[in-house]
Amino acid sequence: MKVASSNQEGKRAAGESAACLIKDGMVVGLGTGSTVAWTIRKVGEMVESGLDILGVATSYQAEALAIESSIRLTTLSQHPVLDLAIDGADQVDANLFAIKGGGAAHTREKVVACSARKFVVVADESKYVETLSHPVPAEVLPFAARLVERRLKELGGVPVLRLGKMKDGPVITDNGNFVMDVDFGAIVDPAALAAKLCGIPGLVEHGIFDNLDELHLARRAGWR
Ligand code: A5P
Repeated sequence: MKVASSNQEGKRAAGESAACLIKDGMVVGLGTGSTVAWTIRKVGEMVESGLDILGVATSYQAEALAIESSIRLTTLSQHPVLDLAIDGADQVDANLFAIKGGGAAHTREKVVACSARKFVVVADESKYVETLSHPVPAEVLPFAARLVERRLKELGGVPVLRLGKMKDGPVITDNGNFVMDVDFGAIVDPAALAAKLCGIPGLVEHGIFDNLDELHLARRAGWR
């Protein structure tokens, strides 16, 4: 589902901008994807200069990058409440609803975001829309795949099982599950859709996020 964006400059500007929110002693959720990777690298530089923080990784990707960047890691078992979580998004709307999961990490991302006192999203301007329309990633228990597919269709969605690249068959998440990308067209009421998706047995987590506290959006003309 992930569409490669050539806007590396925007991703870097947004990602690095959020790093300045991190202060000594904080425990910080580290998101997944190419935008927040700029945050993690920047935080790594700050750590090299003496910043003392702990990170909680949202995926194997984030964990590897944090280790490479000399950021000490902890777990939600050891630190159940985080000071801050920073993450990217596939789409963000004017009411600060977001769709995430292009990298199949949205379940852990949501757990980490909801464990934080403050959740910040970093994105370049291509991600910002008036109305959400990106297909909604749904992590699905393999055992429940056919039931979930049927229920998603009943809700008016068009689910597509995400297939691996460099791997035959479905993408398997860090939690051992499938991912379906569900096209609902324009999503005028993301909260209502989110509530319906939560009611599907075997749908582990969907990619609609409603808890953004702050958006760092890189625009060519400046910041918002
Ligand atoms: C990971 O599953 C996603 O939620 C990412 O955070 C999201 O896809 C944004 O990724 P990019 O910053 O690479 O566009």
